[in-house]
Formats: sequence, structure tokens, C-alpha cells
Amino acid sequence: MTIKTSEATAGELYRILSTAVAPRPICFASTISAAGQVNLSPYSFFNVVSINPPILGFSVTRRGSDNSSKDTLNNVLEVPEVVINIVEHSYVEQMSLASTQYAPGVNEFEKVALTQVPSDGVKPPRVGEAAISFECAVDQVIALGDGPIAGNLVLARVTATHLADRVLGADGKVDSELLDLVGRMGGNHYVRATEEAKFLVAKPGGPVGIGVDGLPDTVRNNPHLSGNDLGRLGGVKQLPTKEEITTMREDPRMQYALMDGEEAVVELAQKLLSDGEAEAAFRVLLA
Ligand SMILES: Cc1cc2nc3c(=O)[nH]c(=O)nc-3n(C[C@H](O)[C@H](O)[C@H](O)COP(=O)(O)O)c2cc1C
Repeated sequence: MTIKTSEATAGELYRILSTAVAPRPICFASTISAAGQVNLSPYSFFNVVSINPPILGFSVTRRGSDNSSKDTLNNVLEVPEVVINIVEHSYVEQMSLASTQYAPGVNEFEKVALTQVPSDGVKPPRVGEAAISFECAVDQVIALGDGPIAGNLVLARVTATHLADRVLGADGKVDSELLDLVGRMGGNHYVRATEEAKFLVAKPGGPVGIGVDGLPDTVRNNPHLSGNDLGRLGGVKQLPTKEEITTMREDPRMQYALMDGEEAVVELAQKLLSDGEAEAAFRVLLA
């Protein structure tokens, strides 16, 4: 099925885009109006867009129901400052409650019982429960359209970062293992970055790998190898030498696998690949 944008409604596009571009991190944005009214709302059209200078971007859409603009947008246009708090599982329900369309001027910190901590250099307060909060100056607000669900991209430059002690590792630096992050998916679905959900993908860095197109045909066209297996093998810097292949034939693991047949050999290679030993896996496949 192919959907032409010109034939889709904004609602249909919202459903597809918010389901496909997922999981998304959540920016819990604290802002303030010129009259001093504090607002706290979540935004998952959010990411880091520059490191030097450090810029975070999030998009406040116009309301789908009546095309009105949200309090967060009105506030950053009045007072160009925001505190972006990172959402963890321990207060995901309070974050969700804060997305309620309360009347302008209602302080969601109070509505959802999160702690309002004064910021150092900007007027909006930060969330006391957040392990990481970024005080930001709003550099630009770019209106991307004027109809319902049109985005307004807020580019927020980080002026100060608050890190709770509990997310600092032994080296004193922020440690992703100590964060209990959540992400937004389509509809009511969220994801929690638990230990079981996390996995490692080795960076291809260093000398350039041979690429999947550089693999010998016998390996590349092996029907038992997946695209991920080939991706790992393609990161190997060079083909194994004849001597390395001969030595591998004498390896006891290889000899057992050879006795059990081709599938056992591929399984041994896949085991080595998942252990991060792509060179050894390559030797097994060629042996
Ligand atoms: C997890 C989550 C993510 C959201 N992401 C966005 C978003 O990226 N953009 C947006 O305009 N609204 C988003 N919303 C909806 C707003 O939070 C909601 O419209 C809120 O009422 C806006 O509050 P305000 O009018 O006080 O600024 C999200 C809601 C939730 C629960």
C-alpha cells in the first residue's frame, strides 16, 4: 500500500508518522507566560539536533480539534526560555496526566504533584523528580504550517544541565545504565529501556570494513545467514588469509560443527557473531 500525502488527512498522517517514527524520547517542557504562569507539558516530537552549540528541538503542534495554539507555544513566544526535563518510568503516569488540556494558567506541576524547583538562570522551574534537566534559551520558533496539527519547531539552546547524583557512574559521568528511560510509540504505547530491552551494536569505526558487497559469494548468498549477520561480517576489515582458514579447520569447535553438517557450522558462526567475534565467524564460514 502506498499513500500519497496529497490524498491523506492530517489525522491519517499523524497516525502513520507517530507510529513509524518511534520510539521517541520525551521532552517534559516547563515554560512560563509573561504574566508568570507556569506550564508543564510533554512533547515527543523531540531530539538533540546539535552538540556545538548544544541545541534541543521539539515541536508543538497546533491543536487538531480547533487549530488553536498550545500554552507551551504561547509561553515560549512570550518568554523565550524552557526547561527540558527527561522522563523516567517512575513518573510516566504524572507526565501523561500533565498532557491534559487544562485551561491556560493552570500549573500542571500542581495538578500532577511534581516538585517545582527554581532554575538557576531561566524563569521556568525544573522538575525536582527528573534525573536530568536542561535549562534552555529559545533561539528560534519555526512555524511549519498554519493548519491543524501543523508543527512549531522550538530550537532550545542548553545553557545549564542539572544531573542527579543517582545517574552518575563511578567515573562521575552520566551513565545510561542508571537511567530508567521511557519512550513514546504510536497510540497509547510506550517503551521502557529495561536491561532486557537493551542490546549492543558495535560501532563500525576504525579502518573501513569490506562491506557486504565485499563478502565472497558463498557467504553473501548463504540462505541461513540473516541481513544482520551479513551486516556484522561486512564490518570485518579484510578477508581471512589461507593460513587463518586452515588453522580454523583444526579448531575443535569447528570440527564438531563439521561433523554435524552445514547448519551447525552456520550456527557456530552466528554464535561467534553475537559474541562480537566477526573475524572468527568469517574464518568458520570459509573453512
Ligand atoms: C508522551 C506525550 C507526548 C506528546 N508529544 C507531543 C508533541 O510532540 N507535540 C505536541 O504538540 N503535543 C504532544 N503531546 C500532547 C501535549 O502534551 C498536549 O497537547 C498538552 O495538552 C499541551 O499542553 P499545553 O497546551 O499546556 O502546552 C504529547 C503528549 C504526550 C502524553
